Amino acid sequence: MTRRKLVAGNWKMNGSIAALAELETIAGAVEGTVDVAMAVPATLIAAAAARASGLEIGAEDVHEADCGAYTGCLSAAMIKEAGARFSIVGHSERRCHQHESDADVKGKAEALRRGGLWCILCVGEELADREAGRAEEVVREQVAGSLPDEAAGDWLAIAYEPVWAIGTGRTPTIGDVAAMHRAIRSAVHGRIGEEADRVRLLYGGSVTAENAAELLHADDVDGALVGGASLTAAKFLPIIAAAG
Ligand code: PGA
Repeated sequence: MTRRKLVAGNWKMNGSIAALAELETIAGAVEGTVDVAMAVPATLIAAAAARASGLEIGAEDVHEADCGAYTGCLSAAMIKEAGARFSIVGHSERRCHQHESDADVKGKAEALRRGGLWCILCVGEELADREAGRAEEVVREQVAGSLPDEAAGDWLAIAYEPVWAIGTGRTPTIGDVAAMHRAIRSAVHGRIGEEADRVRLLYGGSVTAENAAELLHADDVDGALVGGASLTAAKFLPIIAAAG
């Protein structure tokens, strides 16, 4: 099955109203052969959605409950009202710093589904797991624990982000990326059957203009999740071009 490529950016805790000029430049240059999404800090969602209407604007996280006494958190309905069309869930920085478990991530993904938003769900092994030959096992466990039970394929993208590749300038070999994506596809197939063919599998971790073409055209890679190189049009646009 042919899946449209998706290049998604993740601004993390970076950006400002002034930085939205970069987003406008990106939106103005996107031609439509590739889907382009940008997850921005919650404070920027409304302004980003207004100023970069050709892009899918999303949040970086969401709470699993629909409303209630959760000081400081945001529900799917809230980010949707601000203009988000999706959210990232399970990013390794949240799994690590906020101690989010697979069950938490599953709850967040389900909240997005209930709320009518699509989802980028992140998985990825730590360096020690890869060195011990346990990378596939760890990622399969994350998929098993964090995937909602009845996910429709076109609602979901799964980003494979080896933790040791994020922000480090290091990337796995193309063979390792393809093997992991094959393993993820088969794990998702085991859970949601044929719908798995419609799930887009993104690679993330130190994607740059230099390595994007090779990574984006590896077997079973349907796009990229890009952190640092999504912050400026000069760095992000060549990655989008490489996906086309
Ligand atoms: P990076 O981040 O591209 O800066 O390595 C990727 C991510 O965390 O999504």
